[in-house]
Amino acid sequence: MSKNVMETPKIEPEQIENLFEDAYLGLRKFFLLSFCLKYNVFELLDTQKTFNEIEVWYEKQGFQPNKNLLLNMLDALVQFGLIKVYHESYSSDDIFYKATELSKTYLNPNSEFSKINSLAPFYTYGERANRWINLDETLKAGELKTEEGAFFPDIIKRMAIDCRAGELQLTINYLKHFEEVKSAKSILDVAGGHGLYGIALSYLNEDSKCKVFDLPEVCEETKKYIEEYGSDRVSTVSGNFFTDNFVDTLDSNNSEGYDLIFSSYNPGGKNPAVIDKICEATALNGIFANKQAFPETIDKKYAVKKAFEGIDWNMFSFTGTKKEKICYTFENSLTLDGYTNHLEKKGFKILGIFALEDKKSVKEDAHHANVRKHHSKMKMGNYIVVAKKVRN
Ligand SMILES: C[S@@+](CC[C@H](N)C(=O)[O-])C[C@H]1O[C@@H](n2cnc3c(N)ncnc32)[C@H](O)[C@@H]1O
Repeated sequence: MSKNVMETPKIEPEQIENLFEDAYLGLRKFFLLSFCLKYNVFELLDTQKTFNEIEVWYEKQGFQPNKNLLLNMLDALVQFGLIKVYHESYSSDDIFYKATELSKTYLNPNSEFSKINSLAPFYTYGERANRWINLDETLKAGELKTEEGAFFPDIIKRMAIDCRAGELQLTINYLKHFEEVKSAKSILDVAGGHGLYGIALSYLNEDSKCKVFDLPEVCEETKKYIEEYGSDRVSTVSGNFFTDNFVDTLDSNNSEGYDLIFSSYNPGGKNPAVIDKICEATALNGIFANKQAFPETIDKKYAVKKAFEGIDWNMFSFTGTKKEKICYTFENSLTLDGYTNHLEKKGFKILGIFALEDKKSVKEDAHHANVRKHHSKMKMGNYIVVAKKVRN
């Protein structure tokens, strides 16, 4: 029997076409942005340029003249909101291009808040994008093994820039609601990295002293930030939270424990063994405030992103900290519910839970995961949990 030309498949092709269309669009966006950062386009357009001036610049970089192509590239950047295009007067045909506030702030290498080194995944994790471009080779080679002491000194520089763009202020403004935080005299910033959180917390009380605990290689970097932003009330303590104890960092000023232990995105921050060491080093009535990603709370609409984060997460491994399969989790990591339960068992009372992306307190929902999820728009699942030690 011959085939019927009028026969159609049971399922329409739209979904598969969109999948490839989106993928190819993403690919082109990625390479255009990468190109612009490589050639400092946003620095060039920090001051307005005519199209002719941009054309001259383009050819000087060694690119073949192609006016129409260049016009379309500029148009794509206009669509991204990264540059604006305008006429200066009604009588002139000259079109001007200029970087927008957004790209001036984050994509100009001379800006204090430049995210160039932290934003793009192809810079963030070294050759992360190359691992995708050569996916078959990557999978054949196995995961990239990274030593924490070599990885983190670089990462914390990016994290410093990222947190200064808003997260640090958001975190401190939330923590300021707690009297115990404001009056804390002895502070420990565990896995503080750049130490900016510890430094900001020390600003809250002129009588406070803050120690930033981190790996020895990282503490060398921390000292530079303390010099830049800090005061003589902030110092570093080098150590490894898997092998060292925080009680050993106490001194005669706070022999009973720290008034405040803070931690942000600490790879051991959801690990019961490390949490127990923190609990042990917290003074009675002292506070433990921990900012962590709890990926089980990520909203369903980010499920595709989460799946891809999971692939990235498992493309590299640390030498000292074993990972779990879900992104941002390590061996023995607790879920948000497991974490709050664990703290309560250790004699802590949960004072507050703050959903960073929602920018709101969700404490009242703490023991009702479904309610919490229902309200959440979480993309990363980042929460600050503030707990007070009420019994030893
Ligand atoms: C993701 S960074 C977080 C930095 C900073 N707290 C922030 O939120 O921007 C993780 C930090 O944990 C530190 N770290 C990782 N493993 C550690 C260990 N075993 N002992 C002490 N610090 C460690 C890293 O050096 C790094 O500074």
